[in-house]
Order: sequence, then C-alpha cells, then structure tokens
Amino acid sequence: MADAAYTYDYSPALVPAADERGEGMWRWRRLLPLDGADVFPLPVGGTPLVAPPRLRAALDLPGLLLKDETRSFSGSNKDRATALCLADAARRGAPAVVAASSGNLAVSCAAGAAAVGIPAHLFVSTHTVSPHKVALMRAYGATVWRVDGPYEDAYRLSEAVCARLGWYNRNTGTNPLAVQGKKTVAFEVWEQMGRTLPDLAYVPVGDGTTIAAFVVGCEELVRCGVAARVPRVIGVQATGAAPLVAAYAAGRVDWTPVPSTTFADGIGVGDPFFGRAALEGVRRTDGEYVAVDDDAIRAAIALLAQTSGLLAEPAGAAALAGAIAHCAQHRPGEERVLVLVTGTGLKDQRWLPQGGGAAIEVGPSLDAFLAALERADGSDST
Ligand SMILES: Cc1ncc(COP(=O)(O)O)c(C=O)c1O
Repeated sequence: MADAAYTYDYSPALVPAADERGEGMWRWRRLLPLDGADVFPLPVGGTPLVAPPRLRAALDLPGLLLKDETRSFSGSNKDRATALCLADAARRGAPAVVAASSGNLAVSCAAGAAAVGIPAHLFVSTHTVSPHKVALMRAYGATVWRVDGPYEDAYRLSEAVCARLGWYNRNTGTNPLAVQGKKTVAFEVWEQMGRTLPDLAYVPVGDGTTIAAFVVGCEELVRCGVAARVPRVIGVQATGAAPLVAAYAAGRVDWTPVPSTTFADGIGVGDPFFGRAALEGVRRTDGEYVAVDDDAIRAAIALLAQTSGLLAEPAGAAALAGAIAHCAQHRPGEERVLVLVTGTGLKDQRWLPQGGGAAIEVGPSLDAFLAALERADGSDST
C-alpha cells in the first residue's frame, strides 16, 4: 500500500539504475514529491550499511546488518524528513519553520533551517528534553520554546502556533513529507543489499513515523516490481512508553495513552501522533511489536559501541535491544536481519556506556607508564 498522501505511477523506471548518478537521498527523486537537491545544501541520505563481524559473532546472528543513520548531518534519521520539508518550505518562501520534538527532530530542523536561511521555532518539553540537545539547537541559531508539560503538550502548542501564524509546519506526525523523506532509508537498504530487502527489520518507535515510512518504502519497491516481498517489520518501543505494543497484541488500531517513564527520550512518546499508521504498517508486513526495558537499551548501547565502534543514543540503540530479545526467542538462523540505528550517542553524553575501557592516571615518563601498566595488568588478572 502506498502512503495515502502520495502515490506514484509505479514501475521499475522510478528506481535509479545502478550506474545512475545522484547524491544520497535525492538519488530517489522519481519516488519523491520534490527534488530538493538544488535547494537543500546539506548532504542527506546515503548512510552506511554496516556488517559488524564482532557483533554478529557475539549475538550469533550471521545475517545482521546495521543501517547507520548516526552518520547523517545532525546525527539522526530525522535529517531525511528535514531535507524534504525544508526544501519545500524554502520553495514556498516560508517566513518561519516550526517543529515539536523530543530532541533530535529539533536539532535536525535547526541545522537544516540554518542551511536554507529560514528562522526555526522549536517546541520541546521541559520534562524530557536533553539540555545538550537544546544547546545544539541554539548553536544552530534556532529559537527554542521550552514547554512546561510532556512532549504531547509541546506538539499541540506548536500545531496551534502554525495554525495562528501561518508558519511552516515540519511536525513529523502532521507534514506528509516527513514519511516521504524517511521512506528513503528502505530504498537505500535495498540498493546496499544488492537490490534485495532483508527478511526481518527492527525499527524503533516513538511517534511512529520512522516505522510507517520504512514500511511504505519497502512496499513501494514491491509496487515498482523490483522487490519480491516486504520484510517482516518489528516495532520496538521502550517498556516505559509502549502503548503500541499492547494495542498491536490486542489487534487494535487505537491505543490507551500512557505517561512516558523511559530514559530513551527519542521514543518516550506515550500517545504517538502517527500511531495508527505505525500499527497498520507493521500489520501489513505480518510483523510484531516488542518492548525493551531501559536496562536492555543501556546494554545494547554498550554492546554496539564495544563490538562495532558505533555509538548510539538510547532511542538509536533500542532497535538493537529489540532484535537481541526477539531473536533470542525466534532464532532467525541465516535470515538477513536489519537493525536501524537511528541516532548518535555523541549529542547527549549522559548516556555513554559505563564500565567500558579504563582511564588511568600516569606520570609523563616511560618508566612510570610501564609500572602503571604492570599494576593495571595485575589488577586485571586478579
Ligand atoms: C534517535 C531516534 N530514534 C527513533 C525515534 C523514533 O522515531 P518516530 O518518532 O518516527 O517513531 C526518534 C524520534 O525522535 C529518535 O530521535
């Protein structure tokens, strides 16, 4: 099924040929509502697909692949939607761009707005927003509105502001271009996997746009006639904000809102603004929803960093935590298992893994170093 807001005249001709030129996400311009390459100056899309040998061995998942969205210009998958929305805003001559965010979307929007020269007004919840991310938004020159309420209140206020002032709305659950931008991650995975889709895909879920867009992207490849079938898509929520897990298990398309208690701010959404599409999309793939607790997310951050050299924030590592828990039960064997790593750990250092490598005081001489090394080795072996 295509995204209801946009359909295309699907055929293999919409898919870029292997030798066709085109930068990052704009390579897929025939499957996008607009080609922003000449308007949006930052590089976007084209993130690496990593086959991590040590992580594969540690988890006994020989077919594991990581789509590393941490390598995007602001360090998260939000940049794909930002690029499309801000190209649109720039073309329309928007006086200002507005977004509500748990953090990453606002940082992304601040960077993108700076690049195209539109003032950004960002609405965040004082309850959950990371102070480091607020500092980043301001560093890019954006105005940050700190709302005393949960994320959902910040979202509603930002919608009211757009309605009253006519400012451009880049909200993930409202602007249909967000799904169009984010679906390109599926296209890239297909191309990077030798023009096939994985068997299983694990995707973190907050508002639900990322997962709904991933499903749309896979479905469009099938409709173009270049993929045989979509992967089973597994939505991963934090136990402390898992309204869709219960709704999916009950076979429903609505959910009971919950207060968020997870530390994974990017997915700390108790009443998702794109939940219905997120539930329906996963159901069309015959997928599942799973919940992982904060300890499992912390462990996934550490494992990812220490076996693959990739640093994720909590929401960015949640899908890996979900894959670990789910694969332990449903042994996927040789199946190709994709995990979306959606956000970098460099933006909020509160959640860096503890207990990794050591930091040891040492004097400036070689003798002092050798003595310290001996002591460290001794304490290692005791
Ligand atoms: C790093 C990261 N991963 C995943 C998500 C969840 O994406 P969505 O809200 O589209 O479900 C977010 C949302 O902010 C995020 O920042």
